[in-house]
Amino acid sequence: MNNPLQPPQNVADKLSRLQEMCESGEPITSLTAYDYPTGRLLDEAGVDILLVGDSLGMVVLGYEDTTSVTMPEMIHHTKAVARAVKNALVLGDMPYCSYDTPGQALENARSLVAAGAEAIKMEGGLEILPQVERVINHGIAFIGHVGMLPQHVREEGGYKKKGKTPEQAAAILDDALALQEAGASAVVLESMVPAVAETLTKELTIPTIGIGAGKKTNGQILVISDVIGSFPWFVPAFAKQRANTAEETTRATLEYIAAVKATKPVG
Ligand code: KIV
Repeated sequence: MNNPLQPPQNVADKLSRLQEMCESGEPITSLTAYDYPTGRLLDEAGVDILLVGDSLGMVVLGYEDTTSVTMPEMIHHTKAVARAVKNALVLGDMPYCSYDTPGQALENARSLVAAGAEAIKMEGGLEILPQVERVINHGIAFIGHVGMLPQHVREEGGYKKKGKTPEQAAAILDDALALQEAGASAVVLESMVPAVAETLTKELTIPTIGIGAGKKTNGQILVISDVIGSFPWFVPAFAKQRANTAEETTRATLEYIAAVKATKPVG
């Protein structure tokens, strides 16, 4: 395409700010948010990127993994977060099987943008390049996601750390470079050997945002439930829990039950 479309100016400004942060060495902060109150609180706290992640399938909807999440579910939650956010970049996650072809990717990316996403994220590298190019060339900002890809959990038989062999490390670098070349604005590096994430961060000119990938990236992202302790049944080893809202919810509920039980029935 000769004249690819560009994202709207307000989105371009947010992306430029992220690029500036990357170049000046200011770490980029990112968390997931799935609803209005969380989106509003995290935005007001100053988080740079709020991802409406398909992790919501597990930590909000109770699915076993992210592969059951649907486009209508992503649209519903993206709308709620977008209503709340004034400053952060709202990043919408494309769920499993929503970007199998370039045409399908564009149609679904447009639906997420209509729901309030300012950029979209898809998992993968070279194998999804035609989808990535189609989306970017139609003026939709794109953030990549390489390394361990949760949407592949079933075919891989678990969540496996990546970059353990030179071949794997080289493949991740090829993926990330291809996404950058296609016009990605940043790339999430999930669950990989820290030295590989560090190399990627040195080789790429766009920001790298790590999760379970060590500290040598341009920014960090975590699932909000892991930070505030609202999903106690599974917390990844790399996530530092900074609050225990599950415990507090149980405590308040028990107090409420006790208070109601202590009241005298009328008559
Ligand atoms: O869905 C999600 O929360 C994600 C992060 C783990 C990066 O993709």
